Amino acid sequence: MSRIVYVNGEYLPEGDAKVSIFDRGFVMADGVYEVVSVLDGKLIDFPGHQARLNRSLDALEIGQPMTDDAYLEMFRALVEKNRINDGLIYLQVTRGNPGDRDFAYPPKDTPQTVVAFTQSKPGLAENPAVKTGWRVITLPDQRWDRRDIKTVQLLYPSMAKMAAKAQGADDAWLVEDGKVTEGTSNNAYIVKGNSIVTRELSNDILHGITRAAVLRLAREAQLQVEERGFTPEEAAQADEAFVTSASAFVMPVVEIDGAKIGSGAPGKIAERLREIYLDEMRKTAL
Ligand code: PDD
Repeated sequence: MSRIVYVNGEYLPEGDAKVSIFDRGFVMADGVYEVVSVLDGKLIDFPGHQARLNRSLDALEIGQPMTDDAYLEMFRALVEKNRINDGLIYLQVTRGNPGDRDFAYPPKDTPQTVVAFTQSKPGLAENPAVKTGWRVITLPDQRWDRRDIKTVQLLYPSMAKMAAKAQGADDAWLVEDGKVTEGTSNNAYIVKGNSIVTRELSNDILHGITRAAVLRLAREAQLQVEERGFTPEEAAQADEAFVTSASAFVMPVVEIDGAKIGSGAPGKIAERLREIYLDEMRKTAL
């Protein structure tokens, strides 16, 4: 089915949407993005994603093309025009089209390129993988060191995902200086007893919007949260593990580099956090 997508102020059938070959996003990966999930036709944690988009734009000195309200209106229009019940919205903002290729940034008044589209995913919150959990492998983290900025340079995460698939795994956990940073497109956690361990916020990881909500809800549920790095060996010895992201929510991880984590089945704390998270997010969806 042809989607209606958003390009620079216009809603168009996907086949008619066009961006210049000189766009900085295309030739320089000079752009940022957000992925927001939609459940029951409503946007999950929109303010969190909005705030991070603004942080990413500021960090790269890309101008702000739209107001917060305009993004919300546009996201809602896309949900409606494409009759999305469950799914995702992808938004990308680039430094725009300078009319040629050049390493130097174009003049500040060059209009940014704004593109957004929906992905329909019926039953997004009832993903059957939650029952079995993911298997992960570890790989060196070879990304740049500003992973806190959500840029569109996703080649290494794609390569890591493909390497995981080639080994029959679902994802890769990236490792730097002996400690796990995060998954290819998610934040990584282990559970030991009543304590949840996940790497602290820094430039080394993306500051996950799901992470922020899940840690807040975990603390409210009297679980202990330790924000520190952990090794793959510690993960293999943990009681449970899981990842979080806007598209996977809370997804149990049951194996790391072929070693079972805990019983090798999804853990109780991951299961509970997923329930609490989805419950809360449905209540606050816009
Ligand atoms: N990825 N870490 C990385 C490297 C990510 O790409 C993502 C999200 C996350 C989780 O962030 P959040 O909870 O805000 O979704 C962590 C999105 C979903 C993607 O690229 O599709």
